[in-house]
Amino acid sequence: MFDFFKKKNNSKEHKLCYETDLHSHILPGIDDGSPNTEKSILLIREMQKWGIRKIITTPHIAEETFENTSETIKAAWDSLKTELDKNGITQEILYSAEYRIDDGFIWLLESNQLMSLPGNYLLVENSFIQAFWNLDELLFQIQLKGFKPILAHPERYAYYHNQKKIYTTMHDAGCEFQVNLLSFSGYYGKRVKETAFWLANQGYIDFLGTDLHNLHHAQAISNFLATKEYKKLAEKINIKNDLLK
Ligand SMILES: [Fe+2]
Repeated sequence: MFDFFKKKNNSKEHKLCYETDLHSHILPGIDDGSPNTEKSILLIREMQKWGIRKIITTPHIAEETFENTSETIKAAWDSLKTELDKNGITQEILYSAEYRIDDGFIWLLESNQLMSLPGNYLLVENSFIQAFWNLDELLFQIQLKGFKPILAHPERYAYYHNQKKIYTTMHDAGCEFQVNLLSFSGYYGKRVKETAFWLANQGYIDFLGTDLHNLHHAQAISNFLATKEYKKLAEKINIKNDLLK
């Protein structure tokens, strides 16, 4: 009966249900995420508050918008590491990339220049305007090369919202799904939220991700982690983030 007076352990309530994050844009100055090392460190501190212990960060690689290479990504990672060391901050950070499926991606695939996540996973994203014309075949080619494709935020592609069968087809074909935390909060709109919960109910969510770009995202994630909706989700969802070794 005195529960009301018990001090709440707020820090516990705001933890994520996983410790390895596989989708973020926290490397300085190379995509639409963190612009500099100072901001990167602020973002890392937020992630640490949520209980993240291992960050596999994934800068965009996309034709005409973010033409990153393994060299530009490594250079940004080096500068962040130097700044972290200077500030005495310990944080495990690996890097891979979020590959936009386009002709440049196909060239990297064919010339064996892709940087995978641990376990030979590969984080890929569709264009937000339309799906790649031959996506099924391409997913198959990715697997033939020995990679396991993870589609980033499948819930955010509006052109799939009215044809959810496509999710089943892709998932059955071995494409795993990484859903963004903020999709469940309504941050990207009603339809995205509804689709994220639909994917959760189908058991199609293999990974969750922050897709953290900036402090605005960080604040929205912190707010979401404090909700009952998040707690309910965390209890029922069965994800593989912490199996990425
Ligand atoms: Fe992303």
